[in-house]
Amino acid sequence: MSNLRCLYPGSFDPVTLGHMDMIRRAARIFDTVVVGVLHNPDKQGCFPVEKRVDMLKKACRGLKHVEIIAYDGLLARFTREQDIRVVVRGVRGGADLESETAMARINGQLHPGLETVLLPAAPDKEQISASMVRQLAAFGADISPYVPAEALPDILAAFASQDHN
Ligand code: PNS
Repeated sequence: MSNLRCLYPGSFDPVTLGHMDMIRRAARIFDTVVVGVLHNPDKQGCFPVEKRVDMLKKACRGLKHVEIIAYDGLLARFTREQDIRVVVRGVRGGADLESETAMARINGQLHPGLETVLLPAAPDKEQISASMVRQLAAFGADISPYVPAEALPDILAAFASQDHN
């Protein structure tokens, strides 16, 4: 039986509805989607990696064949270790296309045979980014149209406990 696994990597700081759309679409193409959450020990991010993984797990609870795993270091090393040959990334516009193409080429050089599949963001998700969500949340704006409902309480709680204004 074939089990074509892909890696959907990112910072997910925090998970957005743009990410969720990519995960769902990737799950329709591949047998298994491994969602890789980059843990950069030198850059904590807004949410600790454990919290980012936890929010993704809650948001993906109803989805079959989706695994959430934190990784650190090079993506190409992680795909080798996991025996994954396809990376999926979303593209919102021209700037994304340029940076994603460069990243795909580097990853392909570091892990020969590794392919990157770029999926265009859905028109209603194009404007969503984790940095935009962080900024809106910091100023108390409504972020519910941009993040999965399952992650909303955790995001609001994190910003309520900090003085961002
Ligand atoms: O959500 P992001 O921040 O756009 O995701 C970027 C990510 C995490 C996929 C990318 O920065 C990454 O995999 N970094 C790990 C280090 C690495 O492999 N760098 C070489 C590829 S440019």
